[in-house]
Amino acid sequence: MEDRIRALRNSLSLREKVRLLTGRDSWSTAPLASIGLRSMVLSDGPAGVRGPLWDERSPSVNLPSPTAVAASWDPMMVERVGAALGSEAVRKQVDVVLAPTINIQRTPYGGRHFEAFSEDPLLTGAVASHYVRGIQSFGVGATVKHYVANDSETERFTVDVRVSERALREVYLAAFERPVRDGSWLVMSAYNSINGATASENPLLTTPLNSEWGFDGVVVSDWTAVRSLESARHPQDLVMPGPAGPWGAALVEAVEDGRIPIGAIDRKVDRMLTLAARVGALSGIEPAPRRTPLSGPEVREVAREAAVAGAVLLQNDGTLPLGAPGSIAVIGEAARSARTQGGGSATVIPAMVASPLDGIWAQWPEAEVSWHLGAVVQGGLSDLDDGTFTTALGDPGMTVRYRDAAGRVFLEEKRRASRIVGFDTDSPLVVADSVELEFRWRPRSEGGRARLGIAGLADFSIAVDGKVVADGELRTGPDDDHAAAVLHPPATVVEFPVADDDVSVAVRLHPVPGAIPDALSLGVGLPPTVRDADELIAEAVAAATTAEVAVVVVSTSSEVESEGFDRSSLSLPGRQDELVRAVAAANPRTVVVVNSGAPVLLPWRHEVPAIVATWFPGQEFGHALAGILSGDDEPGGRLPVTWPDDEATVPVAETRPVEGVLAYDEGIHVGSRAWLRAGAAPAYPFGHGLGYTAWTVDAVHAPETPSPDRPTPVSVRLTNSGRRAGKTVVQVYLERVSPSTVDRPVRWLGGFAVASAEAGEAAEVHVAVAPRAFEHWDGEWRREPGEYALRVGFSVTDLVASIAISVPAIDAGSEASFSVVAGAAQ
Ligand code: BGC
Repeated sequence: MEDRIRALRNSLSLREKVRLLTGRDSWSTAPLASIGLRSMVLSDGPAGVRGPLWDERSPSVNLPSPTAVAASWDPMMVERVGAALGSEAVRKQVDVVLAPTINIQRTPYGGRHFEAFSEDPLLTGAVASHYVRGIQSFGVGATVKHYVANDSETERFTVDVRVSERALREVYLAAFERPVRDGSWLVMSAYNSINGATASENPLLTTPLNSEWGFDGVVVSDWTAVRSLESARHPQDLVMPGPAGPWGAALVEAVEDGRIPIGAIDRKVDRMLTLAARVGALSGIEPAPRRTPLSGPEVREVAREAAVAGAVLLQNDGTLPLGAPGSIAVIGEAARSARTQGGGSATVIPAMVASPLDGIWAQWPEAEVSWHLGAVVQGGLSDLDDGTFTTALGDPGMTVRYRDAAGRVFLEEKRRASRIVGFDTDSPLVVADSVELEFRWRPRSEGGRARLGIAGLADFSIAVDGKVVADGELRTGPDDDHAAAVLHPPATVVEFPVADDDVSVAVRLHPVPGAIPDALSLGVGLPPTVRDADELIAEAVAAATTAEVAVVVVSTSSEVESEGFDRSSLSLPGRQDELVRAVAAANPRTVVVVNSGAPVLLPWRHEVPAIVATWFPGQEFGHALAGILSGDDEPGGRLPVTWPDDEATVPVAETRPVEGVLAYDEGIHVGSRAWLRAGAAPAYPFGHGLGYTAWTVDAVHAPETPSPDRPTPVSVRLTNSGRRAGKTVVQVYLERVSPSTVDRPVRWLGGFAVASAEAGEAAEVHVAVAPRAFEHWDGEWRREPGEYALRVGFSVTDLVASIAISVPAIDAGSEASFSVVAGAAQ
């Protein structure tokens, strides 16, 4: 294949070569018919595969967000999620999925935390590798992103992350190393700088990515991240989006006059052609055999099972599983308007969402189920529900008219979504001079007045029943993220008088260009409900008092967790904490479901019987949750990230750069390592999670000395000592026992494995502890001789067995093994 690719490349003119290196548009690469190269389509990930259209007419299965996927700690489950994405990509004719996001959850304040796997590099790398394998088994490229140290959002385009070489190697690069070595076809370079050089021009693109890890794929830029011609000198291969950008004609000129060597261009072209060959975009080169796409129901079943596998039972006094309650008070905004995914470029539009309420209704058709809002959580506008607005002719949806500068309608369409996104050079929204949204709608009258929100970077006017009730202009602020015009468009709420009847609404918008020229979003939506907060809590309490069981679903909002900004608080928004306390006091069988992508504070955790963290679990949320609550399914998750008890003890909290610099002063002490070093107790430690059964560790075997070049095999025998079949995650941590000359974590993850067994039965798992677990970075990877303890347990602080293991002064592998018998239960 290499010869063929070289020959094809040599047949191209410089202009043609350079054309391949910048996108054709927002989501695809340039084709070259002369060599049989078709355009390749790239699309976000990771909560599903959106496809090039951001449009409800082209729905996507919304899979659980990455933190939920990692929480399964189950490589096979992760690979199935990857496969579901790969299959969705094939269905949507997408060649490259812009996922997984594998930045480190350095701090719970990171706004994009939900989109990453874990605070731990070993868990992240292992999960990412299986995720990539799943995607690529369909002949679709996976993109590990964002390389590197893009771990928070504040000033994300310009921030210079100052991080030690050791922390980079042992934490931030470590997450990328495994999936790259295992064959990811793409890496996305980040927006930020690392130690003074922006990611697309950073020496880290050469070493370790290419020189040490053997990367042979394409480095695609994050959208608009390439800012200079200079970047063409570096192993930065593809500039996205296109067709404009800093390379193009300027690059042709720079090569012609010798400022940029042609070798740098040829290398990029070879990589683009290799990617094309892999995804089957280059005629004459047969791609590797690929799997047959899954059916729609199969993908949805993966979504449901993954949501179950990643849900973490944080605590339970025996209230769960619920069995068959006769009446259930379901409480909380998210119980009905579920948060299935976080905001930003990862957003997909699912055809349906099973809310917790839907799931509970379906699970217990005989039970008396009621729903109560309890507390207002929503901050910004929420979309109008499909079915609540119609065209003038009474069809579901609204009429959207796009006009050119002369005022002529060049497209009229019926849309069932109330928010319209255009993200492409030729999208009607992007090329239109003005847009009209027309629909009939029954507003909720609040004292004879109704409220409707309008969003978009635009001048607007709104007419109700033919009479203009408001006009104005909507603009982004100077500090807004450059993608804000799409991700968080400016919005306003207009009020108008109504009778108790349908009204006809006409919104006219004249968009103004945003920072990304080909991307816009506009629409109408509902502002948060205005209700007396005490009254809402009282209603929920009254319902909980008379029901057998109360299920309270608490959540963050789209204003809290999204790409484009970081969190300013870890508390649940609104009066949800008060709500939980009041309901739990009223009903001793209260279960709290936490629907957030990242850790939140649960100040009432000692006052409630059971808490399940579901993360952002995707469109099958309700079905997965009902399975867990009833006991048909076991919550399989273990925390991939530490949950703090209060904000004061969070050891790594800062996301705000100082004069453009964000210093990772904590070095290698990130995640559970930071908590251990600080000696602070979190609410729930890394690795924690309960099941519906109990486990005893019976024996652990490991060699006396670890091999320097092969994984150290640790086998753990355990028994399911409970009364039902179940799953647990056996975790192996390392500690340094001898004094050390190196600054080390108190304890660090060395490996893990999932164990499953029927009630009363034994299981044996084999955990492979990679040689790297015994190494530290000091200009190169080194092993410090001495004594280590290999500790086995069910979380970073719930350790039930320990084995001494020693690294000799001169490394020599030993096969001799001994065992320790431990009696401990989870
Ligand atoms: C995000 C990337 C995403 C890209 C394309 C960027 O703003 O950081 O993760 O893949 O947009 O949507």
